[in-house]
Amino acid sequence: MTESRRVALVTGGGHGIGRAIAEIFARDGDAVAIADRDEGRAREAAAALHEETGAELLPVAMDVRYAALVAAGVRQALARFGRIDVLVNNAGIYPNTPVVEMDEAEWDAVFDVNVKGIFLVSREVARHMIARGGGGRIVNISSGSAKSGRIGAAHYCASKAAVEMFTKVLALELAPHDIAVNAVAPGLIEVPGWSLTEEYIEALVGLTPMGRIGQPEDIARAVHYLASPRATYITGTILGVDGGSLAGRPLPLSG
Ligand SMILES: NC(=O)c1ccc[n+]([C@@H]2O[C@H](COP(=O)([O-])OP(=O)(O)OC[C@H]3O[C@@H](n4cnc5c(N)ncnc54)[C@H](O)[C@@H]3O)[C@@H](O)[C@H]2O)c1
Repeated sequence: MTESRRVALVTGGGHGIGRAIAEIFARDGDAVAIADRDEGRAREAAAALHEETGAELLPVAMDVRYAALVAAGVRQALARFGRIDVLVNNAGIYPNTPVVEMDEAEWDAVFDVNVKGIFLVSREVARHMIARGGGGRIVNISSGSAKSGRIGAAHYCASKAAVEMFTKVLALELAPHDIAVNAVAPGLIEVPGWSLTEEYIEALVGLTPMGRIGQPEDIARAVHYLASPRATYITGTILGVDGGSLAGRPLPLSG
């Protein structure tokens, strides 16, 4: 591995947005550890991206909910690449259930993956970054749902609001170590296998000033920028990548 190449670890990198994030780093010649609870997905994505880009890719079986599995996965990435320069906390789940119908297990599952998972992986990787003398980038994947409520997603919206505040506090704590911590907040992004009704998609496009659903690559480009040397003085920020969805309500001219 040449010195100019960086090493990125992407959680939930086997599918959807995470896979597109892994791809953009791989296309740039960086080495990428694809960490996913679904080992088969991680392996498939790593093999396909290696084939497409020639980059070094490592599939890592990691369930971000468990500290021991997180530590083992980070060790595996370090054993192969020697360091981690960029962490992208992308793994997340988004079931839909109204509060009065929701059981405790579903609430806990969302917070375990979306919030505790980011804490556990950040803690492990930040310890490594500090131990090797500092320097690094952490990018967390939040959601427009952190700021705009969605029916059926009380747990999800609350979990992403937590991600955004976690991002800010971690940015404060890691700035002295030259580790920047930011978040990207996607709007609705089309991922393979999604199960949204046409009606919902149409309604959402109507609320999106740019008039389209986002693609995983839209998010990957923003993450890549925040992790790049061009983002020299940015930490603790939340970058919305949502076609303007949170800019205001796209109503017609009022008079
Ligand atoms: N798709 C959207 O419209 C959208 C919008 C806003 C935010 N997001 C966020 O983007 C991120 C990725 O979403 P996506 O749509 O690509 O999802 P996805 O379901 O397509 O992919 C998520 C990946 O994460 C993995 N994963 C799930 N739980 C895990 C765990 N406990 N440990 C490790 N890996 C785990 C899955 O196996 C899967 O490969 C999530 O944090 C999600 O909340 C998505």
